[in-house]
Amino acid sequence: MVKFPYTRPRRLRGKKGIRDLVAETNISTRDLILPVFVNETVKSKQPLASLKGHYYYPPESKELIDYVQDNMELGIKGFLLFGVTNMKDYYGSRAYDKSGPVYRAVSNIRRQLGSEPVIFTDLCICNYTTHGHCGLPKDTRYGKVIDNDETLKIYRKIAVTQAEAGSDFISPSGMMDGQVKAIREALDSAGYSSVGIMAYSAKYASALYGPFRDVMDSSPGFGDRSTYQMDPRNLAEALKEVQLDIEEGADIVMVKPAMFYLDVIRTIKNTYPHVPLAAYNVSGEYMTLITAGEKGLIDLDKALLELAYSIKRAGADIIITYFAPRIAEILRTIGG
Ligand code: PBG
Ligand code: ZN
Repeated sequence: MVKFPYTRPRRLRGKKGIRDLVAETNISTRDLILPVFVNETVKSKQPLASLKGHYYYPPESKELIDYVQDNMELGIKGFLLFGVTNMKDYYGSRAYDKSGPVYRAVSNIRRQLGSEPVIFTDLCICNYTTHGHCGLPKDTRYGKVIDNDETLKIYRKIAVTQAEAGSDFISPSGMMDGQVKAIREALDSAGYSSVGIMAYSAKYASALYGPFRDVMDSSPGFGDRSTYQMDPRNLAEALKEVQLDIEEGADIVMVKPAMFYLDVIRTIKNTYPHVPLAAYNVSGEYMTLITAGEKGLIDLDKALLELAYSIKRAGADIIITYFAPRIAEILRTIGG
């Protein structure tokens, strides 16, 4: 007679070697994309108080090249570039100016490091505009609204400029309707059909972007972003956004933020298993964990593995994270 319990799940947890053999999820430095801030107002790299461990890099600096190279040696090949400027106007023209920070930084990286780094360039105008919105505001008799289709004209110009600089993937983050289609058309008609699009498809109006907006000086000057970013209560709507982006030509789709939206990641992966899916572990998630770790409340390195496994387990193929260098170091010490 078999004695109860005849099934013993603990057999598969008896020692580390067994746990590793039966682990369902794995994480590699090759899955990571590291955000990088290039700032045309600084002369040397400057630490960011609100995003501890990160820096502003001058676009043309050797410091930027060294940073990219050091991370490539850790195994990180993907970099997501954000440009910071003090030359703001209504249109965000510095975003499509060849003397702007992103154009210069990408050109610099390509000149010094060639084609190997996979460069993603964030495409938005909130940090380049005086009003701080991701689209162009216009006055109506009901007050100010964000003009979707006028904004797309600007996005087209930025996309072509970024492609010309040497970006591999244009990454529109403004949540304007039709932005992927507009950018795809602009790229193709400028001869950049091999440049891809990683779309911020399901980007929520989240409270977790605070540190980033501080770093980018990109808080909206009036109102908030809830007329274009998604409502946190919605899941099915994320499928609509992703479907549209795929139809419009997105090569990679994204969910943002990550930790509060693991159900969104899983649902998208189940529905569109053939499309690479990225998850953006945003600035507020980063600083929350950093702070808890500094206070000694959590073992940060352990938490970071758990974080990365959770996002992968939910179904993400790619993780965009400020923790990328630290996760790479942890993976190195535990032997991948
Ligand atoms: C806006 C943009 C945001 C982030 C990247 N691009 C959010 C926002 O200000 O609404 C957030 C990134 C982060 O918090 O790490 N285009
Ligand atoms: Zn924006």
